[in-house]
Amino acid sequence: MGPGIAASAALAGHDVVLADCDPARAAGGVDLAAAHIRQLVDGGLVAAEDGRWARARIRSETTIKQALAGAFWVIEAITENLAVKQALFRTLEENTGRDVILTSNTSGLRISDIVRDVKWRDRTATTHFWFPSHLVPLVEIVMGEGTDEAVAVRLREILQGWGKAPVIVRKDLPGQLANRVLQAVIREATAIVESGLASAEDVDTAIKMGMGLRFPAWGPLEHVDTVGLELCVSVQNNVLPGLCNEPRAVPLFDRLIAEGNTGAKAGKGFHDWSARSHADLVAQRDRFLMQALHFLGRGHPAAVGSDDGCRGAPVPCKSTSN
Ligand SMILES: NC(=O)c1ccc[n+]([C@@H]2O[C@H](COP(=O)([O-])OP(=O)(O)OC[C@H]3O[C@@H](n4cnc5c(N)ncnc54)[C@H](O)[C@@H]3O)[C@@H](O)[C@H]2O)c1
Repeated sequence: MGPGIAASAALAGHDVVLADCDPARAAGGVDLAAAHIRQLVDGGLVAAEDGRWARARIRSETTIKQALAGAFWVIEAITENLAVKQALFRTLEENTGRDVILTSNTSGLRISDIVRDVKWRDRTATTHFWFPSHLVPLVEIVMGEGTDEAVAVRLREILQGWGKAPVIVRKDLPGQLANRVLQAVIREATAIVESGLASAEDVDTAIKMGMGLRFPAWGPLEHVDTVGLELCVSVQNNVLPGLCNEPRAVPLFDRLIAEGNTGAKAGKGFHDWSARSHADLVAQRDRFLMQALHFLGRGHPAAVGSDDGCRGAPVPCKSTSN
């Protein structure tokens, strides 16, 4: 995730420093961020000149201390492990000034737990970038128990300046906001396959070609207001009793995993990837996202050179995961 976040920050005019416990991964992260910027230039979302400036703003450092020098915001994007993140936040607090904002990109942990041992928690929050973070505008700003509202508002302003679509989540709960909705969709989608109501192919087609295609312009609550609340209540009361409400993943997951069918990397999961290219699917997703960004007018803000007054925004850890 780190390189994608770094690309977005650099395109917005920030100097960005990547650091990792493995310096080779930090250096590789700079190359990956450059590839993300190239993809945006090739897709016509960023001017070539702005892409060159953005690339020049990203560098890696081998020590955390060097990476943190001059930072106004540190985005932690390391392994999803509570104890490891807690230790890093202690290091961040020891090596940054009181006014430096410290955020985590955690997808599943509570920021309140991550910063348990941090003294000044008012300047901490989750900033959950959605993958692929250089293409998806959503960033969830999750306020922990100690987060100062002014910090959340400032993060929202900064991210709006990046061309992102930040939302503030006021309670520090598992799944934040959007992942709660996504996990509910996945639970119902997998329950439909398990029950034999439809195949995995047809479930994905129904979502991609129906509600999914509509969602960028038509949110679920805008849908409710359009059809009218009385009709929606009637449909809900009729349909909800038959939906899956299990508090754990449906048993089909366990059966597939036991068979070694753990997903695209294994060649099979809900879909059989031996006859289909997963890389083609990823490329198609990125092409679609870039077209959607064009349509939504969400190109990256034009960068104005490396001396535009922005202070550094180190991303202390980088990732090459996709
Ligand atoms: N992959 C996704 O789709 C996705 C989406 C949103 C959020 N996230 C979150 O972002 C974070 C990173 O995920 P990822 O998929 O990029 O992980 P990743 O495993 O690809 O990268 C993590 C990097 O952190 C480094 N690292 C581990 N411990 C470290 C430490 N103590 N100090 C410095 N560097 C350290 C590793 O060397 C690695 O390069 C996680 O919290 C994850 O939950 C991931």
